[in-house]
Amino acid sequence: MYALGIESTAHTFGIGIVDEKCNVLANSKAAYTHPDAGIHPRLAADHHLQHGNKVLEQALAQAKLSMKDIDVISFAQGPGLGPCLRVGAITARYLSSKYHNPLLGVNHCVAHVEIGKKKTPARDPIVVYTSGANTQIIGLENGKYRVFGETLDMGVGNVLDTFGRELGLGFPAGPIIDQRYFQGKNLIPLPYSVKGMDLVFAGLLTEAEKKIGKADEIDLCYSLMHTAFAMVCEVAERALAHTEKKEILVTGGVAASKALASMLEKLCAERGAKLFIVPREYAMDNGAMIAWQGMIEHRAGRKQPFAETDVDQRYRTDQVDVFWK
Ligand code: FE2
Repeated sequence: MYALGIESTAHTFGIGIVDEKCNVLANSKAAYTHPDAGIHPRLAADHHLQHGNKVLEQALAQAKLSMKDIDVISFAQGPGLGPCLRVGAITARYLSSKYHNPLLGVNHCVAHVEIGKKKTPARDPIVVYTSGANTQIIGLENGKYRVFGETLDMGVGNVLDTFGRELGLGFPAGPIIDQRYFQGKNLIPLPYSVKGMDLVFAGLLTEAEKKIGKADEIDLCYSLMHTAFAMVCEVAERALAHTEKKEILVTGGVAASKALASMLEKLCAERGAKLFIVPREYAMDNGAMIAWQGMIEHRAGRKQPFAETDVDQRYRTDQVDVFWK
């Protein structure tokens, strides 16, 4: 059995094809980038429209399959940017109608978690999902992926990229700031804002931007990253303590950060927990995770009427019933 999944929540238009064991036969993508700004939703959607066909052809060629071999089609129904989501949804509906496949809209964040659990030894982790747009601390409790804490304003990846843009580091700036983290010598005090179990990054970013030109640039990168990740670690540690889980799983685009890994390693060592990091190709937005989510929901018997395949920009992680366990 083969599942084809379409990801188009933000920058990336991706198509993945997986089999029943989550062997990834194809994981093709095209990513929108803008030299000045993070993302312009309509321009990103135009990009996805222009590249969609090519990405589909690449995915089928990679998998050595044709559309007639596909058994189920899934797409990221949300959360994400409306114009971008719609390109994926329309593509999926068209393919489903033409080739008579079942169609399933799946939750993008839940797909990140499930591919992470499949591609690492983690079984019941607290998930640290950090990307440009999202920052959530998630854990499975009573049949749903509960969001124990999350950003109330911007994703931590966006904080790093916005700061990097002010420094002229280009996009994405996160990897450069990550290198600088290990070169920094002095921690500059910056606003640290954990509200209950939630995170607020705007004050931290504003204050760091104000210090550009007045403080050492390397120390400033180190301090911004250290403060932002310390906030994430505090909430993750409290979620671990509350749930008594023994694993942390890191996913999303920021999972590639060595600084975040080093901070979470210390946290896990102190709490007797294990740290797992999703391989980069499956941690970034990608079609394979959407295909895998479609596969497990289809196998568990979910059917979605065509009329309910509208996109949902605010589709929350904790709305989804985890019925496939
Ligand atoms: Fe994502």
